[in-house]
Amino acid sequence: MTEIIRDEHVIHLRNAHVSYIIGVLDGGIPMHLYFGPRLERLNPAGLLRRAGAGEDWGFNVQNLGLDHLPQEYPSFGLGDVRDGALTVCRADGTRSADLRFVSAEELPEKPALPGLPATFGGESATLRLTLADALTGLRAELLYTVFDDCDVIARSARLVNGGEAPLTLGRAFSLSLDVPDADWELITLSGSWAREREIVRRPLQPGHQGVGSVIGASSLRTSPFAALVRPGTTEARGEVIAAALVYSGNFTAEVEVDPAFSARLLMGIHDRDFSWVLQPGDAFQTPEALLAYSGEGLDGMSRSFHRICAEHLVRGKYAHADRPILLNNWEATYFSFDEEKLLAIARTAADVGVELFVLDDGWFGHRDDDTTSLGDWKVDRRKLPGGMTALAEKIHALGLRFGLWFEPEMISPDSDLYRAHPDWAIHIDGREGIQQRNQFVLDLTRPEVQEHVYHAVADMLSSADINYVKWDMNRNFTNIGSSSLPPERMGELPHRYMLGLYSVLERLVKDFPEVLFESCASGGGRFDLGMLYYMPQTWCSDNTDAVCRCRIQYGTSLVFPPFSMGSHVSAVPNHQTGRMTPLSSRANVAMSGCFGFELDLNKLSPEELEEVRDIIRRVKSVRRTLLYGDFHRLLSPYEGVDTAWITVAKDGSEAVAMLLRAQAQLIPALPLLRLRGLDPAARYRVEETGEVYGGDELMAVGLAVPPKRGDAQSVSWILRRVD
Ligand code: DGJ
Repeated sequence: MTEIIRDEHVIHLRNAHVSYIIGVLDGGIPMHLYFGPRLERLNPAGLLRRAGAGEDWGFNVQNLGLDHLPQEYPSFGLGDVRDGALTVCRADGTRSADLRFVSAEELPEKPALPGLPATFGGESATLRLTLADALTGLRAELLYTVFDDCDVIARSARLVNGGEAPLTLGRAFSLSLDVPDADWELITLSGSWAREREIVRRPLQPGHQGVGSVIGASSLRTSPFAALVRPGTTEARGEVIAAALVYSGNFTAEVEVDPAFSARLLMGIHDRDFSWVLQPGDAFQTPEALLAYSGEGLDGMSRSFHRICAEHLVRGKYAHADRPILLNNWEATYFSFDEEKLLAIARTAADVGVELFVLDDGWFGHRDDDTTSLGDWKVDRRKLPGGMTALAEKIHALGLRFGLWFEPEMISPDSDLYRAHPDWAIHIDGREGIQQRNQFVLDLTRPEVQEHVYHAVADMLSSADINYVKWDMNRNFTNIGSSSLPPERMGELPHRYMLGLYSVLERLVKDFPEVLFESCASGGGRFDLGMLYYMPQTWCSDNTDAVCRCRIQYGTSLVFPPFSMGSHVSAVPNHQTGRMTPLSSRANVAMSGCFGFELDLNKLSPEELEEVRDIIRRVKSVRRTLLYGDFHRLLSPYEGVDTAWITVAKDGSEAVAMLLRAQAQLIPALPLLRLRGLDPAARYRVEETGEVYGGDELMAVGLAVPPKRGDAQSVSWILRRVD
């Protein structure tokens, strides 16, 4: 049950578990009073005093100074020297904004954010808090949505120039949250190619700390996510305040600890190389940030994020549907294939129970390697003489669905498209372009480029029976310039690019509602909540080694649910690490996401193929639970050699647990794996052994882990509720 309670000075949003409280001082300064466990009754004056504002709602800027106040949407220039959410520059070059309360209203429903991905409401309550600056005429409309079914507050800001002169935004963040003490640790996700979303945890220190991206995508290096956790917080216990941004471009997620040891969490579009001109009447909409509170450790935080993804973010036919088990030919053939080779792999795939065949990079232009043809989305008839229509028909005739790879945002210098439109690449006039993977980025700020990209994909989708698209993106922004933007708007390019991309994606997912889209960026380089709004699954990493995948998927699961993670079984020795791992372990790790294969099945032995057939049968039997159940992390690969997790069906009828031991232990420290999320009063049969245990027993005592010899051994259990 969500509600918004208001009186003269206090606005209180709450659901069954959390409260968010805003105070408005005399004079209209909007203060942040509280975010945490639900409060039933409050003493607003007490909250005010604890927030440092004195005995009553009066406030004297001259005497006290904004630097000491927790604020809702702090701006630069009038005494608060901490980093703020907003920087506004007037035509005379001065920078300040004094945002005061105008109105607070409850909206009948959560509005969509124009041009941007955002959560949709369902059972929720939305507050619009309007603030204005008398001198500039700038208006800030702050949206706050509290949800019934997850402990998340969605926040965003719309900045409107209601004055008569142009203004320039130098920073316009989505979220600022002042927390009264700094006794927290900061968790972020950082990494690289093939090592995405590693969990990094460190105590807060005075000054600035955090993560960000300025490469044009949310990036391989880090994720738009930050969590404050009390020291000692574990999966099951402790207090957590976390934020994640519904956005796929440049971002910052940072915390500043001030000299009085209060902490300010900020999140939004990175302000490096950002500026935005607001002519009178213009508006700028920030992306949405999701703020989660958990009093039940990291598990509670992830449950809220997973739930908001499932119920309020992911759209379309596949939002709650079984995801097809796919085979992607990338690691099977790379660029070297022809129709016969593909069909040979597809035939075996169909025979063992695969449901979707995906043709990856190399089917267009004359692309025999990565030096050429991006932009020329015409079938390479040398490889596919009958074209895509014929190949799709042949794949369908095998009983498989058919999927295709694109990298639509890119252009190869060696392409007809580049020869015709060199200025369509993002570039700086007079400077030599910097190629990464032999390619440039298309300038999606330009409507004609958006149109071209839409048609490149849409025309192909209309020409053949294509049921799935892998949307890849494989380089950073450099030489950031556009022939179509005037000098004063060049700082708008990275965000305008995202708006252009989002508008293309919105058209495509609306026009092709039957197609399943999976996003990808050199592996998991754009794994974010923004992309999930358009594409219900994301390729987690190019690193398909089962041991590495434990760390990657474990870290990813802090924010993202199993149904969002593309995870495949690949060949051994692993193409990235060279490691040998058992087929069963590769499958046990991969099945906790959108399951598939990334290898030539024809290179497996008959025994291995039988095993693959069994694995697929098993995955299909518990697929709904694996994709849409409640996911709990049990043992962390960041703390030892074991990784374990469990997914429990929403209705409690079954659960799937898995443990992988990266290195063999002669005398294992842990012969029992304690489970979580089961019904303590129920009994469960372990499918593999036939034994029956109480739910309480499985959680308090645990399940025996059978001893196994060798590295990267694993075990998975299917538990079915018997009463
Ligand atoms: C990068 C992706 O992450 C891979 O899966 C593959 O699609 C290649 N690009 C193809 O070039």
